[in-house]
Amino acid sequence: MINLTSPLTKKDKFIIFGGGFSGGYFAKSIRKLGCTALTSSRSFNNDPNSFIFNSDKNLLPKDSIFDGVTHILSCIPPDNNGKDPVLKTLKNRIQTLSLKWVGYLSTTGVYGNTYGDWVSEKDEPNPFQERSQRRLNCEREWIHSNLPIQIFRLPGIYGPGRSTLEAITAKKIKVIHKENQVFSRIHVADIANAIIYLIQNKNKLDFHQIINIADDEPCSQVEVIKYCYQLLGLKMPKKILFEEAKKDLSPIAQSFWLENRRVSNKLLCEKLGYKLIYKNYQLGLNNCLVNIK
Ligand SMILES: NC(=O)c1ccc[n+]([C@@H]2O[C@H](COP(=O)([O-])OP(=O)(O)OC[C@H]3O[C@@H](n4cnc5c(N)ncnc54)[C@H](OP(=O)(O)O)[C@@H]3O)[C@@H](O)[C@H]2O)c1
Repeated sequence: MINLTSPLTKKDKFIIFGGGFSGGYFAKSIRKLGCTALTSSRSFNNDPNSFIFNSDKNLLPKDSIFDGVTHILSCIPPDNNGKDPVLKTLKNRIQTLSLKWVGYLSTTGVYGNTYGDWVSEKDEPNPFQERSQRRLNCEREWIHSNLPIQIFRLPGIYGPGRSTLEAITAKKIKVIHKENQVFSRIHVADIANAIIYLIQNKNKLDFHQIINIADDEPCSQVEVIKYCYQLLGLKMPKKILFEEAKKDLSPIAQSFWLENRRVSNKLLCEKLGYKLIYKNYQLGLNNCLVNIK
């Protein structure tokens, strides 16, 4: 709940661009604190808290959406031309608002390949994929926007409704093994909770413009899949070596296996004192299981 020393008040109004998996979860979390939260969607839906925004079709929000807005969070990836959908269409309008805080969800892909080594915010980004270079360009445009921006670099996002458990039950899983390959992950509840923690404690904590939000235990995909099969009481199919499996993977799926890094959360969890709800995949997947049964 909001406490008296928190800079967050019930009068605060959040606009969340991209009410998808993380944006939608964040909106629900911030509403529980009594704040208003509106989310964007590319197509019409019946949610009274949703508004239409589609940068590809130049469908922009009505101006009244911005009345009284205090916080903005963008959860939209770069468009097909590498441009940031929000800044491309709404930067001038947003710059006229008196905002307390602006957040942008980015990816740890901007760090590139560290061959399994740990990577932190202190490391220079070194994008390996073209899409990560585009993402870094978007981060930079947000930084240069003169808005009170904070950027969150995220690894693979999972949570109830979108996890390896659902992939197994939908039979959309291959047990691919690549020697020494690890992935970092984050449960969607920790993205929302960490951001809210940082906003609520803004006056007490050192400000960092770029923060990784990742769990404590990067590990192999096989380890996670094996655990999910155990939770579901099913037998795991045989592993396939990446070299053999790759011919059947889409280019985007293949590209994820070309980078290997462990994302450090020391800034968030040690220096800034955030306590993860799900510090590893076991805890996070047990939470997701509730959604399956
Ligand atoms: N998924 C991951 O594992 C992962 C990992 C690291 C970083 N990220 C990044 O973190 C952010 C949030 O991820 P997520 O998985 O929660 O996203 P998501 O569920 O895919 O949601 C993306 C949102 O962006 C909106 N959107 C996309 N293109 C748009 C455009 N041109 N104009 C207006 N709206 C547009 C979508 O609208 P609709 O609701 O209408 O579809 C959706 O609400 C994204 O930037 C993503 O790239 C994701």
